[in-house]
Amino acid sequence: MHISSTLVAATLPLMALASPSLIPRQASTKITVDPSKKYQTMDGFGFSAAFQRANLIVNLPEPKRTALLDILFSNTTGAGFTILRNGLGSTPNSNSDYMNTIEPTNPGSATATPKYVWDGKDSGQFWLSQQAVKYGVNTFYSNAWSAPGFMKTNNNDMNGGSLRDEWKQAYANYLIQYIQYYIDGGVPITHLGFLNEPDLSTSYASMLSNGQQAAAFIKVLRPSLDAANMSQVGIVCCESTGWGQAGNIYGGIKSSGADGQLAVVSSHEYTGRAGNSLSNTHPSWQTEYADLNGGWTTSWAGNGGAGDGMTWASNIYNAITRANVSAYLAWEGVQAPNPNTNEKLIKCDASNYEVSKRLWAFAQYSRTVRPGAVRLGTSGGNFQTTAFQNVDGSVAVNIINTGGSAATVSVGVTGLVPASAVSWLTDNSHDFTSTTLTVATDGSVSGSVPARAMVSFVLAAAAA
Ligand SMILES: *[C@@H]1O[C@H](CO)[C@@H](O)[C@H](O)[C@H]1NC(C)=O
Ligand SMILES: *[C@@H]1O[C@H](CO)[C@@H](O)[C@H](O)[C@H]1NC(C)=O
Ligand SMILES: *[C@@H]1O[C@H](CO)[C@@H](O)[C@H](O)[C@H]1NC(C)=O
Repeated sequence: MHISSTLVAATLPLMALASPSLIPRQASTKITVDPSKKYQTMDGFGFSAAFQRANLIVNLPEPKRTALLDILFSNTTGAGFTILRNGLGSTPNSNSDYMNTIEPTNPGSATATPKYVWDGKDSGQFWLSQQAVKYGVNTFYSNAWSAPGFMKTNNNDMNGGSLRDEWKQAYANYLIQYIQYYIDGGVPITHLGFLNEPDLSTSYASMLSNGQQAAAFIKVLRPSLDAANMSQVGIVCCESTGWGQAGNIYGGIKSSGADGQLAVVSSHEYTGRAGNSLSNTHPSWQTEYADLNGGWTTSWAGNGGAGDGMTWASNIYNAITRANVSAYLAWEGVQAPNPNTNEKLIKCDASNYEVSKRLWAFAQYSRTVRPGAVRLGTSGGNFQTTAFQNVDGSVAVNIINTGGSAATVSVGVTGLVPASAVSWLTDNSHDFTSTTLTVATDGSVSGSVPARAMVSFVLAAAAA
């Protein structure tokens, strides 16, 4: 683009005299990536199929079922998700949306031998997890919303209440037994959470906790996991409703001396958006968020609403850049048409499915920024830009152009002359579609970034 910018410069005085608005605005924009500026290491991107949503996939007739799995997990044709967040049940039955427990009956006391029951299904999540393993998903997060009711102060797994002190060891054993069923089924659980939105009491499974209570349980859970040969399972806490609540409860965990036994600090974004780094010692994960109310939309850049795909690209961008997150998870991957909201990435009924652009917003990151990638500093360009170095040496540069003008963007990574480069585009008419790039001899890579679009450049490592 050096030639055209020279022409622009040469004609500028004349055009400026005539009318400033005639100056072409699609000038070449330069983005520079600085590999010496390193930020967080990424763990990946994912979603949940809790509340029996996994059954929607299990029950879908072939060949659609496999096609849907490809859209979620394939790293060559789909979103390439690498994190699956499973709901660990606490309810004695599977009525409506309930997630059933592996210990439906009270053994009589906290030290009595429990009677565990494994149905081999776990509301479809066991099968879904086994399929995900085949696609290379490597982060499996088991997350309990509550302990079974008989372990709690309100004798109910719903409507809040908290874990009774004397049941801490029994609850730890219970969580470990659940994980063991998955490990025995070939699903390597890597993360475990024992709370969900502990600042909120709901009419579905819910359990309240403050930081001190969470710390007291972590001090029992961590050694129990280690004793069960599960030292590879990291404890995630605390799935707060929002960022402010997450800061509060994590503060309590730290002041109660359990920080060292934690692996990941997590939060949702419902009551407070991801605005600051939660921890400077552990990865922060945004583990659940969705537009719960907006009417179902598959648009990328429609009215700029909470369900638009481009809004979701920006949600992920903001959490990564402002809150230092290493993982970003959607709430439901799939959900039935009722409620007809944007709570899900994919709408799915008994015979068909429909994919929203929110999924392709995730794909732009998930497909190009693989687990283990390190975020790098960038400068230049009036876009929402992030860059990452993958474990294989490739550099992904993710550019969201929320503006109304297309641009030709040239990306240079200091010190890198890539062997090759590819780029991917999502906008109103493309779903992670391959586009053309030009590699200059100095190693910079140029391509088009349309208005209201997200484009990801991936520069392969330098030739050996
Ligand atoms: C893509 O998925 C396959 C499994 O289907 C896995 O072997 C491979 O490592 C994955 N590639 C990347 C870059 O994650
Ligand atoms: C411990 O767990 C690892 C997997 O994390 C497994 O390979 C090993 O066989 C287990 N050892 C025992 C004694 O169960
Ligand atoms: C960002 O997170 C990493 C852990 O993933 C941590 O080491 C680092 O200190 C965090 N940065 C800030 C500014 O908190």
